[in-house]
Amino acid sequence: MKTIGVVTTGGDAPGMNAAIRAVTRIACSKNLQVIGFERGWEGLLTNTYKKLTPRSVGGIIQLGGTMLRTIRCPEFKKEECLEKAAQNLALDNVDGLVVIGGDGSFKGALELSRKTRALMVGIPASIDNDIYGTEETIGFDTAVNTAVGEIDKIRDTAISHERLFIVEVMGRERGFLALHVGISIGAEVILVPEQVCKLNQILEVIQDNARKGKRAGIIVAAEGVGDNAKLAKDLQEHTNLEVRLSNIGYAQRGGSPTARSRLLASMFAEKAVELLCKEEGNRVVGLQKSGIGSIELAKSCCNKKPVDLSLLELAKMLSI
Ligand code: F6P
Repeated sequence: MKTIGVVTTGGDAPGMNAAIRAVTRIACSKNLQVIGFERGWEGLLTNTYKKLTPRSVGGIIQLGGTMLRTIRCPEFKKEECLEKAAQNLALDNVDGLVVIGGDGSFKGALELSRKTRALMVGIPASIDNDIYGTEETIGFDTAVNTAVGEIDKIRDTAISHERLFIVEVMGRERGFLALHVGISIGAEVILVPEQVCKLNQILEVIQDNARKGKRAGIIVAAEGVGDNAKLAKDLQEHTNLEVRLSNIGYAQRGGSPTARSRLLASMFAEKAVELLCKEEGNRVVGLQKSGIGSIELAKSCCNKKPVDLSLLELAKMLSI
């Protein structure tokens, strides 16, 4: 192992910069060269990269986003694109590639691994926390904290105006973010794609709350549950409450990473470089019960991470 490439792909996540910094510094401390491909997979297609050094990654640990920038690159599935990327990796003498991103990024890495001799190691970074093989992804903790901060503010209006708020959080088709945020803000109801909740079930909770003297409420809804605007309209129609929908949107994907996201990024990077130095490729690093470990890239790509639905029961008990 002489040269390591680094790329951030897919949606940005707070802590990606901390991971780039850590990969660079750990690799350099082992006398390896590091290059950072820019704009995600596109950088491998156009062979656009910059040399990364311990100094060039200084002052970024606290920054959200990614200094290497990132794009969604759907054409990366095409054979000709994969071959071009493999050619460029060979041209740049890249022996190992650290892919910092989510499940889509890892699927791309798996495809690319069929075309190149460069070893692939994935570092899970996504606010969705939906990657199989790791209890937590880089950026998840930050996104949870950001959403909690925003919803705490929204609750002030909910209480003052005695309104029911539906707050939509990201997470794609998964409910990890909604569950963790919902419990942390004391949501009256949490809606996740993994467990369908019908309108009359929500109405029952709201009406029961009204009987108990609760005049305001917050429903945390994952974006993946469907049309939350329609839900707000339906709830307004069936209750005598003022219902509002608030979408936190991209604010939850940005901002300075929490200490936890930075720490995870640094530990994941250490494991990723260690694997490459041992010439072990096609792995995804992750937080496991026993500490920082790794699993096969294909296994991470093919499996769906289970969500802990017992948290919904906990939320119910906490919101009486
Ligand atoms: O995967 C991260 C994520 O922020 C999801 O939560 C969200 O659904 C999606 O990306 C938004 O994607 P885009 O950045 O392409 O709008």
